[in-house]
Amino acid sequence: MTKRRVAILISGRGSNMTALIEAAKQDVYPADIVLVISNIANAGGLEKAREAGIETATVESKTFGKDRDAFEQALQDKLAAHKIDLVCLAGFMRLLTPWFVKQWDGRMLNIHPALLPSYKGLHTHERALKDGVKIHGATVHFVVSEMDSGPIVMQGAVAVRDDDTPETLAKRVLSIEHRIYPDALRLVASGGARLEGGVCKTDAKASPEDTLIAPTVI
Ligand code: GAR
Repeated sequence: MTKRRVAILISGRGSNMTALIEAAKQDVYPADIVLVISNIANAGGLEKAREAGIETATVESKTFGKDRDAFEQALQDKLAAHKIDLVCLAGFMRLLTPWFVKQWDGRMLNIHPALLPSYKGLHTHERALKDGVKIHGATVHFVVSEMDSGPIVMQGAVAVRDDDTPETLAKRVLSIEHRIYPDALRLVASGGARLEGGVCKTDAKASPEDTLIAPTVI
């Protein structure tokens, strides 16, 4: 099995990054995490990546100011130098230009803390609670130019509780994120996901517990 060479882009604590690194330790996992890049110099995830023995790089967006093209060219150069096949955005809080997205068309994934296409953008848990939704979750999708859009590879859901706060809900959604991101990357890296007319179809089966009703009455 030729493993796909993966770079993870982060801006923060990197818990999804860690979930991907852990999964990729398995011999049968179809991807190797070979590089972690942060656009924030002191992102907590960088230290965790180093501890896991993964090469890290910082391409600090701040130093490029408004010159997004130069920032993205610097990112692109790092990815090319490491012969990267697939890019995973994991809490990478920078919007990418159509040029960069095109370089990675069909080869760049993102994780978002909501059941897209609902709750694009920030403060997803707060907004979901305000709306009183009963089911919330997370999505792994291919990246397209439009923010938090693009073919959906995998979603995971949790029941929302009446006494949830944004923090308690975020915690349960995050543990779902840590399950679906490694599984989604496994699918994509092994060639088990394909794009058909802007929709992602996969070789995976529906979950045996494929109904979630919330709240449950009895
Ligand atoms: C995660 O919840 C991820 O879904 C979210 O940022 C957090 C990063 O946490 N991403 C977005 O909101 C992107 N739109 P992590 O650094 O611990 O993985």
